Amino acid sequence: MNAFVPFAAIVASSLFILALMWMSHPTTARRGVRAGEIGMLVAIVGALVQHDVVDYNLILIAMVAGAAVGIPMALLMPMTAIPQRTAISHAFGALAVGLIGAAEYYKHAHAEYAGGFIMWALMFEMLLGFLTCTASVIAFAKLQEIMGSRPVSFVGQRVLNGGVALATVVIGAMLAIDPTQTWLFPAFVALALLFGVLLVIPIGGADMPTVIALLNSYAGLAASAMGFALGNKLLIVAGALDGASGFILAVIMCKAMNRSFANVMFGGFGKVVAGAAGGKDDRVVRSASAEEAAMQLENASSVVIIPGYGMAVAQAQHKVSELYQALTKKGVDVKFAIHPVAGRMPGHMNVLLAEANVPYEQLVELDDINPELPQADVALIIGANDTINPSARDDPQSAIAGMPIIEADRAKSVFVIKRSMNAGFAGIDNPIYYNSNTQMLFGDAKDMVGSIAKELAGGGSGLH
Ligand code: TAP
Repeated sequence: MNAFVPFAAIVASSLFILALMWMSHPTTARRGVRAGEIGMLVAIVGALVQHDVVDYNLILIAMVAGAAVGIPMALLMPMTAIPQRTAISHAFGALAVGLIGAAEYYKHAHAEYAGGFIMWALMFEMLLGFLTCTASVIAFAKLQEIMGSRPVSFVGQRVLNGGVALATVVIGAMLAIDPTQTWLFPAFVALALLFGVLLVIPIGGADMPTVIALLNSYAGLAASAMGFALGNKLLIVAGALDGASGFILAVIMCKAMNRSFANVMFGGFGKVVAGAAGGKDDRVVRSASAEEAAMQLENASSVVIIPGYGMAVAQAQHKVSELYQALTKKGVDVKFAIHPVAGRMPGHMNVLLAEANVPYEQLVELDDINPELPQADVALIIGANDTINPSARDDPQSAIAGMPIIEADRAKSVFVIKRSMNAGFAGIDNPIYYNSNTQMLFGDAKDMVGSIAKELAGGGSGLH
């Protein structure tokens, strides 16, 4: 049986690596998820057959309890709640890492382990595990709107955060050097838990997806450190993969928003100013009706649809798919331009459009669609705002200057579906709404797209 354990570790590690590789492309993503699931099953079986398992009854109780929470959570949570679902899963995982670390600490709290590698690894993994646990709970509460999503700041916050971080590290080091000082251990755990709360409360709700990717990375590093402490190679590999992929994802998200980690963690960004785009000025905004939009769309030979956060809020993806089919039937070439940070989580648009059966091949990434936009007859923007804001390209003073955008304004004609002149996530004005080739379609994305699709299905304008 013991030969099976290293074999299971190799198979599971390989499947995890393949899963990451396959998940990086939409056409192979499902296969990637399956590979990850099978890898996890192999890893669990490998762990269960280890000779040092003492009581299967307790494990069975834990598995039934975990499944009783996990299965309804997976089935009932809507797609739009994936960020908070991920956050709460991290909280459970990180708590498990912290608690195993605590059990191992008490097992090794003897002078012979003083200053040894195991103790340092345990302190590192408990620090990350406990802080990730409370930080993830706060991220969940902000995203689920159980607590206010606005950044919480107060005088002396940075000094307090720095003090708590320093105290946690110093006590952790003292315990690693002399593990027999068990009286210090509860203080170490309490400070690590407190640090997690302090770390996340100053960050706005809208920045949580980036923070979650970062917490994912911490949880992975903690698991990897636990693997070193327990001598478990599979944990080392799986934790390192998790840590690295979470970190890479956070870097990609920051890059696509043209922001630094420091800005996400300490910037207090995301305080959306309602009506920021609707200041008093003489610029003219032209609005149009669903009928007028349908007329122009069916007479176009190429249309680029640019979805954003508003499509997700309105759950308009199925109507968008209907519109896509209606236009394609009329011989119009329709493509979807996907910005890497459109919406509020990585791959948000891809997931929603896939759910509505829009073919993957029609989804085109920012760098590939931009050269095509000047030839497009119509750019149809559905609930996107910051990701199509030309001031990121044209105005060096803009808060989002330098952020790559989808250049919808270069299309021959532009329609924008949104409910008002309100700003998007960054809370800034968008000059595209005042361009002479732009027409606003004011309304909820689902209703408006539905009306346009209906117009098209009903024979449209008949101008063809
Ligand atoms: P946003 O700039 O957030 O704009 C969304 C627009 O959708 C709003 O202007 C809003 O205008 C409209 N909207 C909201 N509900 C709607 C509804 N029911 N029907 C129609 N329109 C509706 O969206 P975006 O262009 O997708 O940009 C995403 C932003 O989020 C970027 O700034 C990005 O940096 C940030 N961000 C993204 C991520 C990830 S990973 N995707 C993570 C963190 C932050 P009205 O209120 O007028 O309708």
